[in-house]
Amino acid sequence: MRFEAYLEGLTFSEESRLRGLVEAMRYSMLGGGKRVRPTLCMEVAGVFGVEPGIVLPSAAAIELIHTYSLIHDDLPAMDDDDFRRGRPTTHRKYGEAMAILAGDAFFGEALTLITVHQEGSTEQVLEVVRELAGSTGVNGMVGGQVIDMDQTGVGDEADPETLRMIHTYKTGALIKSSARIGAVLAGAGAAEQAAVSEYAMELGLCFQIVDDLLNATSTREALGKSAGSDAEQGKATFVGVYGLDGAKREADEAAGKAIQALETLDGDTSGLQELVLFVRHRGH
Ligand code: IPE
Ligand code: IPE
Ligand code: MG
Ligand code: MG
Repeated sequence: MRFEAYLEGLTFSEESRLRGLVEAMRYSMLGGGKRVRPTLCMEVAGVFGVEPGIVLPSAAAIELIHTYSLIHDDLPAMDDDDFRRGRPTTHRKYGEAMAILAGDAFFGEALTLITVHQEGSTEQVLEVVRELAGSTGVNGMVGGQVIDMDQTGVGDEADPETLRMIHTYKTGALIKSSARIGAVLAGAGAAEQAAVSEYAMELGLCFQIVDDLLNATSTREALGKSAGSDAEQGKATFVGVYGLDGAKREADEAAGKAIQALETLDGDTSGLQELVLFVRHRGH
């Protein structure tokens, strides 16, 4: 796949003293991963008639930031996981200090990819940076991680509103901006961007519910990361709050709404529809 080849081509530095850092970064980013966010970004660009390869630098930047969030999420101070994408976590393989720094470095490299390598007008590139800054900062992914942390131990006592808030910040924001970035770079208008945002919010919700379902029902071997850990740690999850069947219904509903949101778009949205089916039914 073209995206994998693009990632493979990122070598970051020729400096021999930084070989260890680059190795840790490449270990983390090339070790598998479903690539849902970059796929979403490229598919959205395609709907508006733009050759998806044009958005590769931004799609890769999104995946680097996502990878950083996973490395830090797995650290002993956070979820303390030793298995990710089918292999030992970055801190297990390279030590905690290098894992923290590899995550940090991904953020800077993501900005370099966008500001140095992304084609588009100055306004478009600035909008990409604005999207990513907003969706990963205090009112995005990092804020979501903090609320998630605060709610750990609460388990099925979590209220549905807080649960949705955790999800919207922690996972939903970056998924939504992945789609919006594809739309912005393809020159989509305001109404088209709104439809894409609606689609991505529902897709992101479905994604999180399925992630919770799989944590409860699948195995470490199948997932490539720890299973059963949400219940063990008392995490606030859709399964905890709605039960298995209730969570499945919520996932179906979000998947349906995502597909519905595509109806107003003129382009070929079959790729985006397939992505919904993949997200809903993976691992089953
Ligand atoms: C896992 O994300 C963490 C969540 C935000 C739920 P992914 O399921 O996209 O992880 P990879 O990239 O495929 O490993
Ligand atoms: C990870 O969430 C979310 C981010 C890294 C932003 P989780 O902790 O719920 O996901 P997994 O189970 O480790 O992939
Ligand atoms: Mg976590
Ligand atoms: Mg985790």
